[in-house]
Amino acid sequence: MTKEGNLKATNIVWHQSSVNRQARSASRGHKSVILWFTGLSGSGKSTLANSVDKALYERGVASYVLDGDNVRHGLCNDLGFSASDREENIRRIGEVAKLFLDSGVIVLTAFVSPFLSDREKARSLVDEGDFVEIYCSADLSVCEERDTKGLYKKARKGDIKDFTGISSPYEEPKSPELTIDTGNLDLNDCVDFVIAKLYQMNILSKG
Ligand code: ADX
Repeated sequence: MTKEGNLKATNIVWHQSSVNRQARSASRGHKSVILWFTGLSGSGKSTLANSVDKALYERGVASYVLDGDNVRHGLCNDLGFSASDREENIRRIGEVAKLFLDSGVIVLTAFVSPFLSDREKARSLVDEGDFVEIYCSADLSVCEERDTKGLYKKARKGDIKDFTGISSPYEEPKSPELTIDTGNLDLNDCVDFVIAKLYQMNILSKG
């Protein structure tokens, strides 16, 4: 784990952990990775992340989902949806995901994370190969048609400001490791794509 960063506090010294990531992975029989799901509200990030989590659990793999709506109830309950609050939200999640990575767990993050620069900062916290960006590419018309939480309707009426896709931008990933057409594909197929990617990257190994 890297130790650089903008420290406000002084006189703090990094304490090296006794059990490292490699040892944890070896004892678990799989590697850890950050699966970063991004996409519009209603694009299926949480549904897909949770289904992948279940598929991993059933294989005996240690995994955990960090979900935008849930994390905003606790760790990030001081943040709203301005660009700077979203930036801070994603910064915190990037750091938390990095801790999970070090703990040997496959961490799945399901956040709109609409800004390229914020996602790139999260990516830059870890080594190449440790951050797998998964673009849930259901387009706005599909998400708005679904409107599972009724938020698009409210946003169109102007009752929610800075709503992603309506009154706040979503910057599509330029070269995500995976793009999944969550607007059209069957959920099981989407899960299979992610699991196949984990085997292809040797995060999971057969046998
Ligand atoms: S992020 O932009 O900072 O990454 P995050 O994923 O944590 O967002 O939260 C998004 C969720 O909050 C959406 O799925 C939606 O349910 C809810 N939400 C409430 N207000 C907004 C808004 N203005 N823009 C986007 N999502 C919102």
